Amino acid sequence: MKNITKAVFPVGGMGTRFLPATKSIPKELLPIIDKPLIQYAVEEAIEAGIETLIFITSASKHAISDHFDPMPDLREKFAKNKPHLAEKLDTLPLHVKRVFVPQGQPLGLGHAVLQAETLIDEDEMFAVILADDFIQSDDNPLKPLIQAAENSQLATISVEQVAQERLSSYGVIAPKTWEKDVTQVSDIVEKPAVADAPSDFGVIGRYVLPHAVFDYLKQTQSDKSGEIQLTDALFSAMKGEGLQAVKLNGQRFDCGSQEGFVLANLHVAMQDEDLKHSINQALRSN
Ligand code: UTP
Repeated sequence: MKNITKAVFPVGGMGTRFLPATKSIPKELLPIIDKPLIQYAVEEAIEAGIETLIFITSASKHAISDHFDPMPDLREKFAKNKPHLAEKLDTLPLHVKRVFVPQGQPLGLGHAVLQAETLIDEDEMFAVILADDFIQSDDNPLKPLIQAAENSQLATISVEQVAQERLSSYGVIAPKTWEKDVTQVSDIVEKPAVADAPSDFGVIGRYVLPHAVFDYLKQTQSDKSGEIQLTDALFSAMKGEGLQAVKLNGQRFDCGSQEGFVLANLHVAMQDEDLKHSINQALRSN
């Protein structure tokens, strides 16, 4: 098997929860303070050894491509007197390749991932990263997934414990036996009613998948809303070769929701002494 060096970033969703901002700004370019969500996700991937970034995009998302373009003129202008700004313009190391694939229509996360099929070799596993799941952790969240997938060659997903009242917004797994932070999965259900949830471990936006997942996706029927769900293909993978889950070690913010986005900004702001001081002052005066 090849090393895992490709990551798929599905950025073709409509981001309706952030309208009107997402009329012209892709949700993935919304910033946590000064850095867009997609930049955090790409940095995480590169740190984990990814060298090819595959963005599955919609027509209105050319701004994501623009974000990763070098700006040599501006860089040169800043280089002398404002080197800290020059550094901020370096959004992508030179050795990293970018590929943009149009999704055509937003027919769901599973459909988005399927668009990467021709870019992944048959003997290759690949990462999938949802940039709107913003993760703060001392350890890279993707690395343990890559390691577990390389050891087992199984489809591997990231999970975290989710409050009961939120389970019905997640894919939820039934874990077998945990060995440290890794378990085989014996069931996976998309958005279950709380009473039907097989555990409180919800699937979050980090995956490492084998090429076989494309066959499962092609066999997956659209759901009631016309979307092809990645969870259904993961269920097929579980029934076939098997599926394993890795517990997230870190704090995740669902930046696809307004609440998660605001809390993520607050969390990062509180790590900056000046911003922390201003926020505490503002809160005290309220
Ligand atoms: P979401 O359902 O959270 O994103 O999809 P959304 O549809 O953009 O958001 P809302 O619900 O309208 O506010 C999870 C991830 O899958 C991608 C999204 O971009 C997001 O990263 N996605 C979703 C696609 O790439 N294509 C799709 O057809 C659907």
